Formats: sequence, C-alpha cells, structure tokens
Amino acid sequence: MLARRLSLTIPLTTFLHAQSQHVCLLTTTEPNHPQLTSCTNRAPVDPGHLVRVCTILYQQQYSPESRLHSSLSSCNFNLTREFFLQICNNFPLSWRPVYLFFQYTQKAQPCFAHNSITFNRMVDIIGKSRNIDLFWETLQEMGRRRLVNDKTFKIALMTLAEVRELKKMVNFFHIMNDCGCEYSLEMLNKVVKTLCQRKLVVEAKYLILKLSEWIKPNEIAYGWLIKGYCDVGDLIEASKIWNLMTDEGFEPSIDVVDKMIETFFKINKDDEAMKVFQMMRVKRMDDLGLSTYRIVIDWMCKRGKISQAYTMLEEMFKRGIEADNLTLSSIIYGLLARGRLREAYKVVEEIEKPDISLYHGLIKGLLRLRRAREATQVFREMIKRGCEPTMHTYIMLLQGHLGKRGRKGPDPLVNFDTIFVGGLVKAGKSLDAAKYVERVMNRGVEVPRFDYNKFLHYYSNEEGVVMFEEVGKKLREVGLADLADIFQRYGKKMATRERRRNRAIEP
Ligand SMILES: *[C@@H]1O[C@H](CO)[C@@H](O)[C@H](O)[C@H]1NC(C)=O
Ligand SMILES: *[C@@H]1O[C@H](CO)[C@@H](O)[C@H](O)[C@H]1NC(C)=O
Repeated sequence: MLARRLSLTIPLTTFLHAQSQHVCLLTTTEPNHPQLTSCTNRAPVDPGHLVRVCTILYQQQYSPESRLHSSLSSCNFNLTREFFLQICNNFPLSWRPVYLFFQYTQKAQPCFAHNSITFNRMVDIIGKSRNIDLFWETLQEMGRRRLVNDKTFKIALMTLAEVRELKKMVNFFHIMNDCGCEYSLEMLNKVVKTLCQRKLVVEAKYLILKLSEWIKPNEIAYGWLIKGYCDVGDLIEASKIWNLMTDEGFEPSIDVVDKMIETFFKINKDDEAMKVFQMMRVKRMDDLGLSTYRIVIDWMCKRGKISQAYTMLEEMFKRGIEADNLTLSSIIYGLLARGRLREAYKVVEEIEKPDISLYHGLIKGLLRLRRAREATQVFREMIKRGCEPTMHTYIMLLQGHLGKRGRKGPDPLVNFDTIFVGGLVKAGKSLDAAKYVERVMNRGVEVPRFDYNKFLHYYSNEEGVVMFEEVGKKLREVGLADLADIFQRYGKKMATRERRRNRAIEP
C-alpha cells in the first residue's frame, strides 16, 4: 500500500534509489563488495555474462556455497533486476540454480534490492518445480518484506491448489493478513477467478467456505464457482452454490445465468435449462437481454422448434431488443431444417449487412437438405458481397459435395482418390495417403471421415496455388463447376496470402 502511494507522488527512480540506499544502510557491517557500485545501474544484460553465470549455476549447483560464490564473483557481471529475471528465464522449472543465485545476490551484493517482480518470478519457479517447503518459506519471506501483490496471491493459491495443500491455501490469507496484507474480498475474488478458470473449482470452494468467517463472499465469488462447476460439468454442485447464494440474498449475474442455461442444454437437460429461463422471465424480466435469448433461440432452432423461437424473437422485439447476426443465423438454420426455404431466404434478404455467421447458417441448412448446389450459390453470393469465406466455409462445402468420407467421381481425372489421396502423396504425406488407401481396400467404401481440414492445410502454400488451379480446370472440364469454383477460390486466396507473406519477408 505504502509503495503504491509513494510511487504516485514521487518519480519511480527516486523511490527505487531510496530503497536501495535503505538496504545498504542496514548492511553497513558487511565488507564493501567491489561490485557495490553496480547496485543502481541499469546496464543492459551482457549475453556473455548471462551464459557464463548460467553455466556456473548449472554445473556447480551441488558445490559448496563458498566455491559457487567465488566462481560467480569472478564473472564480474553487473547485477540488475533484468539480469536476475533472465537467469530465472533460463531455469523455468528448476528451483535450485535460481534459489542459489538468489542467495548469492543476498550475500555478495547486499545492496541489490529485490522487488515483487523478481520475487514473484523466483517463487513461481520454486512452485512449478514443486519444492513446496521452500515455496512456503519464500512466500512468508515475501510477506515479511512486504513484497506481496496480486500476482503473488495468484501464484501461491494456484500452486497450493494444484498440489492440494488446502489448509495452506487458507493459511496463506491469514499469514498475509499478519504481514499487513489485510483480508480483502477483492483479492479473494481475483484468486477464485484464477482457480475456477483452471478447473480448480473444488479447491476454490474450499477456500471460500473456510475463509468466510474473515471474508464474506459476495455474488462475484459465488458466480465464479458456479461457472467453474459448469465448466467441469458438475451441474449438481453448480445448482447447490446457486441456491446457497440466493439464500444469502445475492442474485446471480447474467453471465452466470447464461452459463447455467447453456450448460444444461449442452448436457441435454433441456427442462432444467428452460426452468432457469422461465424463472428469469417471471422474476427478473428487466435483466433479461439478448445474450440469454440468443442461447434459448439457438437451442430451439436446432431442435426444430421454430415457432417457439419466433415467439421468443417477438418478445425480444416487443421489449426493444434487436436481434444480432448470430441469433438470426440460428433462425435461418431453423427454418431450413424445417424445409422452409423461402422464408429463410426472405430473412436473409431483409438483412442489410449480413455477416459470415448468417451465410454459414444458410450454407449449413442447405447442406442438411442435401442442396449442395444451392449452398455453393450462397458461397458465390457471399464473395460477391465482400464477405470472405473462411476455412470453415470450405470444409462445410467440400463435405457437402463429397460427403464426409469422400466420393469416387466417375471420371478418373477428377475422382476423389486422384485429388485427395494423390494430393496427399504430392504433399509428402504418403503415410497418411497409404493409410487411407489401405482402409478403402479393406473395408470397401466404408472409410472413416476424410480430414478435409488437414488436407486444406497441407495445401495452404505455393504448391497449393498451382494444385487447386489445375484441379479446378479439370473439374470444370467434366462439368463439376461448383467444386471447381470452390477449389479455385481457395487457391486464389492462398496465392494472395503467399504474395503478402513474400512481401513481408522482402526488405
Ligand atoms: C557495468 O555497467 C557499467 C555502467 O553501465 C559499465 O560501464 C560497465 O562496463 C559494466 N560492466 C560490465 C562488466 O559489463
Ligand atoms: C451483422 O454483422 C455486420 C458485419 O459485421 C454488421 O455490420 C451488422 O450491423 C450486423 N447486423 C446485426 C443485425 O447485428
């Protein structure tokens, strides 16, 4: 706290300088070291020195301390914080060399002041290399030196949670409180967020409950827990936390509500999802916005409940909420899935500026109806209107035309094997191709899904530019204009990308 206030009112350089002096004064009993002059310099790190010091630390990590220290001193390097950090970077998972170097900086260069950054880097390495005793000791040392910040809390709690030192997690908060880092809800929330995002939700819950006497959790902490449990698929725990927080008078925020609804749909608990949604409509209508409607409408469309989806859309409009591209895309797909083509096209026509998700909804719906030709027409249309297809567009279309397993064309020049299997051989992927052919031979036409994604990626280069042009020509000759257009467009895209890349390389 003190540091933060100081750095706001006086220039940082003054503060750093004062801090180094302070440390020097405390250690006047130590003999002056020849390198003492380097304590405040900001000399750039000399790579030669760095290599030499790292080599010594590595080779002599089990030597007696005195010998290690005299070897290090003979290097005569300028010790700076940057130098220390770069030493750390060289040993990202080995606590010993890093900690030995730290001890050296303490003893041989006592006026060199570590700060939160150097300490955090070191303690993180100690934690990652799982020396938990030293980790715990170092954290307490940081507390005593008042060098603990948000990052330290995150490192401490993440590591302790990963090794399931649950009691230490709670204790850390108590010890830091004794060191002047007082219990803080804000800090707890930050830590809980980090834990839940890394799927350490069980540990996060333990922490919250055990600390509740000192830090009363609020809706943010509970919200992270609920989302964390949704992420690991434990809807029972998520619901329990939900009830606990509502019992305590907190309202789950909209992102938490959305997460619950979305997860219930994902695991096919449609009734539960709709229960939450209905509860929102009854009790918190004012909070209900586009994001929640979008999830529900998308689900309804996927399940073919198009009239229900329309009812929701109307409700949205009535409440002054406009549909976005994604919601409209769901509607379009839903209409097509029901075979209501004319309506679907009408929706698209009414949209002034469609984005790629709308075209994808249209293409996906048409392909589901086995109308690959019409889907390709949409592909041409989107290009004409300035919307560049993505990898996803190409893969959908190729699957639509050739099937998920690939189809054998009647003309050997343009059949599936010539283009794809032959293509793989040319791309140096003969092993993949051989495996594919083997499966075809063994099981007749029952081959596994052909990986169009991989195939297109192999050819996302100069060779692909030529190949797709060639293949396109052949396909057009035999009257397969749709496939020809798709491949040639893809080739053209590669060509411009390559040209752009070459330009970037040239000086
Ligand atoms: C240490 O830094 C000083 C000042 O920046 C510089 O003059 C000196 O050459 C450096 N010493 C070494 C050994 O790099
Ligand atoms: C759809 O996306 C386009 C392009 O990003 C944008 O200009 C347009 O406003 C969006 N339409 C809606 C309804 O959000």
